[in-house]
Amino acid sequence: MNAGKTRLNRMPEWTALGKHREQLGATHLRELFAADAERGSRYTLQVGDLYLDYSKHLVTDETLALLRELAAATDVAGLRDAMFRGEKINTTEDRAVLHTALRAPRDAVVEVDGENVVPDVHAVLDKMAAFSERIRSGEWTGHTGKRIRNIVNIGIGGSDLGPAMAYEVLRSYTERDLTFRFVSNVDGADLHEAVRDLDPAETLFIIASKTFTTIETITNATSAREWLLTNLRVGPDAVAKHFVALSTNGEKVSDFGIDTANMFEFWDWVGGRYSYDSAIGLSLMIAIGPDRFREMLDGFHLVDEHFRTAPPEANAPLLLGLLGVWYGAFFDAQSHAVLPYSHYLSKFTAYLQQLDMESNGKSVDRDGNPVDWQTGPVVWGTPGTNGQHAYYQLIHQGTKVIPADFIGFAKPVPGLLAGLVPQHDLLMANFFAQTQALAFGKTPEEVRAEGVADELVPHKTFKGNHPTTTILAEDLTPSVLGQLIALYEHKVFVQGAIWNIDSFDQWGVELGKVLAKKIEPVLTEGKGGEQLDSSTATLAGKYRTLRGR
Ligand code: F6P
Repeated sequence: MNAGKTRLNRMPEWTALGKHREQLGATHLRELFAADAERGSRYTLQVGDLYLDYSKHLVTDETLALLRELAAATDVAGLRDAMFRGEKINTTEDRAVLHTALRAPRDAVVEVDGENVVPDVHAVLDKMAAFSERIRSGEWTGHTGKRIRNIVNIGIGGSDLGPAMAYEVLRSYTERDLTFRFVSNVDGADLHEAVRDLDPAETLFIIASKTFTTIETITNATSAREWLLTNLRVGPDAVAKHFVALSTNGEKVSDFGIDTANMFEFWDWVGGRYSYDSAIGLSLMIAIGPDRFREMLDGFHLVDEHFRTAPPEANAPLLLGLLGVWYGAFFDAQSHAVLPYSHYLSKFTAYLQQLDMESNGKSVDRDGNPVDWQTGPVVWGTPGTNGQHAYYQLIHQGTKVIPADFIGFAKPVPGLLAGLVPQHDLLMANFFAQTQALAFGKTPEEVRAEGVADELVPHKTFKGNHPTTTILAEDLTPSVLGQLIALYEHKVFVQGAIWNIDSFDQWGVELGKVLAKKIEPVLTEGKGGEQLDSSTATLAGKYRTLRGR
């Protein structure tokens, strides 16, 4: 698609940014704020319910203009439009990339290979809604006639992280009488802990796998079936009442023994890490109900439309993507922290890790040439205020450039115990304090003025100048969650477009899978060790000895 393009780092727009970076030198955020009294209100955007403050970034009007020129020169908008049109922009897998169709309204038209996919999307959403209501109302019963009270989602990667994350985020909207568990790890401990206190007669397993071939998921699903049949002392006909599948692969679902009538379908144009708003979200829909799920999809759609139509200077995903490119290329930033100030967002950053790192962890461009510029950063972070008492030290006073996103909410979640509501202001005071401290720091003069002994002044000085984005919303609703996820999805898209990489394949996960298959018989039967390198062979031998084999 981009064949013949000038290499990114030889583009005049790139060179101009490099020169501009040199001119900016060690310019401090203190100076930028002093020079413009309006900076804190001018460098902001409102997108739906999300208020974005990007004033605490190491940028000027000129930087932003140069970054937008880079976006224009790399034709981010062209690739974006091709994505929305359903073109096969995932070239290495020859697939369209249409997660945006999953949240399109019923009357929208989105074509893949000349066919409108929106009616199919809504047919599956309707089927999910009907099923969710049957579970929530108690109408759907297990094999013995007991109502379902426990829902166990078995999946991994995009078939786990999305629903598991969103269930936590929206916990205050969930049906509290139902128990939800998420099993992903092939380590049997995961399934063991998930089912050990459950009554199989009241348990529904949702087997979530796009391909229905992923070894972890199929192994856990097989063990779950065994657990259910053994503990209920029933035959395989009980499976129909206790297992449903979410997949693109009807044949494999059927081979596993799940009736395809109990399968909720999605399509190969939905990437795993972009799939929790498809059938993969069934557990979430059961938890929050179809109406809340729709509110979430509408939140996604709002940001899709913003990304598709907002002009470059007011386009939030474009801006966030460009800022990441800026720090990676010209400040040697290797990582990006996402620091939500909400306990409910405890799995949010883990979810973003897959979204960002599986998408943009690439080192060849779309034509297969090695890139000689930074691509995706290491994404990490946990909710504040916990991190403040752990690793923030390094962000404040370490040697690394770590751009960070701070995400917070003006109101505590609905239904919080009244006595706990005042704690929200303390939480948010920390939220604002951290970005202030990171940006402006504390000068040696300020430290000295507090009477600190000379030898301690360097230790108590905060250099500041650490870039952050603040994202503030009124409250944490299903729609706001959809808006946030779509914002990050499109940010990742923008960066992939600029770096000229395929953000929608994931070949890097394949090698380990193939090698694990070869190593398993070495561990279990002691066969094939001679084909391994000396380190792995010795380790496998050691393992066998420790296992008493
Ligand atoms: O790890 C690779 C990967 O293919 C992810 O992209 C995907 O989300 C995950 O495995 C699970 O795949 P599946 O849904 O096909 O089981």
